[in-house]
Amino acid sequence: MTDDAGGRPPGRRVAVVSGGSRGLGALLVERLLTDGWTVATFSRSPSEFVEKTAATAPEHFLWDQADLTDFKALRQFVRDVTRRFGRIDLLINNAAVLDGQQLFLTERPERIAAGITANLTGPIVLTQACARVMSLGGQGQIVNVSSINAIRGYRGVAVYAAAKAGLNGMTRALARELGPMNIRVNSVVPGFFESDLTTNVTDTNRERIQRRTPLGRIASIDEIADAVSFVVSPHASFITGQSIVIDGGITC
Ligand SMILES: NC(=O)c1ccc[n+]([C@@H]2O[C@H](COP(=O)([O-])OP(=O)(O)OC[C@H]3O[C@@H](n4cnc5c(N)ncnc54)[C@H](OP(=O)(O)O)[C@@H]3O)[C@@H](O)[C@H]2O)c1
Repeated sequence: MTDDAGGRPPGRRVAVVSGGSRGLGALLVERLLTDGWTVATFSRSPSEFVEKTAATAPEHFLWDQADLTDFKALRQFVRDVTRRFGRIDLLINNAAVLDGQQLFLTERPERIAAGITANLTGPIVLTQACARVMSLGGQGQIVNVSSINAIRGYRGVAVYAAAKAGLNGMTRALARELGPMNIRVNSVVPGFFESDLTTNVTDTNRERIQRRTPLGRIASIDEIADAVSFVVSPHASFITGQSIVIDGGITC
């Protein structure tokens, strides 16, 4: 995973990845480290991946405990990263929660607020903290991991869908506001892929997704990471404000 050449200061580039302990986030952390980035990530709890990576790449990897709903902790995390590594070149807003399917008519307001806080407000607060650091460095990139729930209607995920659509809106607005500072902002919009987030999806629903997908199969997690790699790479150096859908055609 290489990055834009334009205007960045020399030295090892620094990426912040939210939720890099497992799933897509862990794969992105692994790829970034392989490509010579320094990576800082956080999640609510550590994982085998985090412990192994901290042991093998102690100089270039930082994991900390932080919850997306704790804004103070997010800002402190960004301060710690900046103090330790001196810069932030890339933010990937990857972490999200999906507490199974929820019947909207019986959803409690507290759960609605919690879903929006974790999946939208937290990422916005994190983005602001990282973008401030990027603006001082005169360049940067922000990648928001959204979902096809943001662009098509599916039952039982109204709050999650609202938050993901909000991320896409933020992508467009920030691309305009931060573009003059040489900061690109894009969303990647995955369809279903296997991870801890989707363990509750029944076999029947998996088959249905597969059947309705023009390419006739479910994405591998590598195919989603490939799209993020592309967006971050010099091949995408003139792409900003866009939502790139990776779903085998299910939303076409
Ligand atoms: N899997 C899919 O089919 C699918 C489809 C479309 C979009 N997406 C999106 O892709 C991204 C990655 O999903 P995934 O499937 O890789 O998820 P995952 O396997 O469940 O991993 C989620 C990561 O986020 C962290 N996290 C969750 N809630 C957090 C919180 N409140 N504070 C801090 N960290 C938190 C988790 O660690 P802790 O639990 O320890 O905090 C974990 O590291 C998400 O944005 C998701 O919405 C996934």
